[in-house]
Amino acid sequence: MKITFIIDPIRGLDPGHDTSVALMEAAQELGHEVWITEPRYLSVAESKAWAEVRPIRLFPVELLGERWVPPIPWFECGESQRVLLESMDAVFIRPDPPVDTAYLFATYILDYLDPQKTLVINSPAGLRLANEKMYALQFPQAIPQTIVTHEKALIRDFVGRLGSAVLKPLGGKAGEGILFLEAGDRNLNSLIEISTHQGRLPVMIQAYIPEAQEGDKRIILLAGEPIGAVNRVPTGSEFRSNMAVGGRVVHTEITPRERDICAQLAPALARDGLVFVGIDVIGGYLTEVNVTSPTGVREIDRLDGTKLGRQVIEWLAAQSSPGRSGPL
Ligand SMILES: Nc1ncnc2c1ncn2[C@@H]1O[C@H](COP(=O)(O)OP(=O)(O)O)[C@@H](O)[C@H]1O
Ligand SMILES: [Mg+2]
Repeated sequence: MKITFIIDPIRGLDPGHDTSVALMEAAQELGHEVWITEPRYLSVAESKAWAEVRPIRLFPVELLGERWVPPIPWFECGESQRVLLESMDAVFIRPDPPVDTAYLFATYILDYLDPQKTLVINSPAGLRLANEKMYALQFPQAIPQTIVTHEKALIRDFVGRLGSAVLKPLGGKAGEGILFLEAGDRNLNSLIEISTHQGRLPVMIQAYIPEAQEGDKRIILLAGEPIGAVNRVPTGSEFRSNMAVGGRVVHTEITPRERDICAQLAPALARDGLVFVGIDVIGGYLTEVNVTSPTGVREIDRLDGTKLGRQVIEWLAAQSSPGRSGPL
């Protein structure tokens, strides 16, 4: 297969941590052609999607003790060339959020790919539809008590009733802008004003789940099936457990309740073309559905001895084999 990865600038990627690199390595190991590009190198001409792509050769990371260690350099790129994206069997779109205007426009360009010829993971339409914070609201049985609003009075009332809550900007990632709210906090009004941009943007307010101290579990789903998980435990005085803010990663198992949440999600994910997804579960509650550039593969592979990247690429190869009929 020929596979293109739309990513952030390659030099900024962390080969020992980033799932995009794990997927590219797996594709190369399985004998596929790997190409990279960025959202700004996409275009449409004659009603077809094009891209300036570069072939990439990866030098795989190695597990030394508790760390994946990359060789230096860890990749080598060939000359860039302008190609019809439909010459690819699959395209992964994995720049990090925010889902800003440039990101949205990239998804509109990818709409000009024929899904019969090229699988886009995740589906451009699905990416536009699925806000990572709000997608979970479709599953009221799975989530903690949650509201989305820009209204200070509603937020104050929610926090007053529950005593405490977590505030989340709707477009954030990696713990950015996540706040712990307390009813008696003298900064409460100000925190709400800053987060809602003076009442102009809605935010998510969610019941604080005390089990968050034991960790926030990342479960990776492939075509709706859980294929691996890792727990992220907050460290020090930090209440957030994102890896980006120092959360410690530890081995975990997927519980029956979590399998049930995945089963609830699966039909919606299939409907929306969301093939490769990372959900966050705290104390048995679904808190986030990451669809843009979910991570965790390196950590799960290290702790559990799995090869999740390989599993994803093998799944992909099975989809694009002759006889595949229609989009996912
Ligand atoms: N309802 C909640 N109760 C307690 N802690 C939470 C809750 N929601 C999120 N957190 C903490 O905040 C972190 C970030 O939240 P999340 O919704 O996953 O957003 P993102 O990872 O995109 O920043 C989580 O890893 C968790 O530690
Ligand atoms: Mg998260």
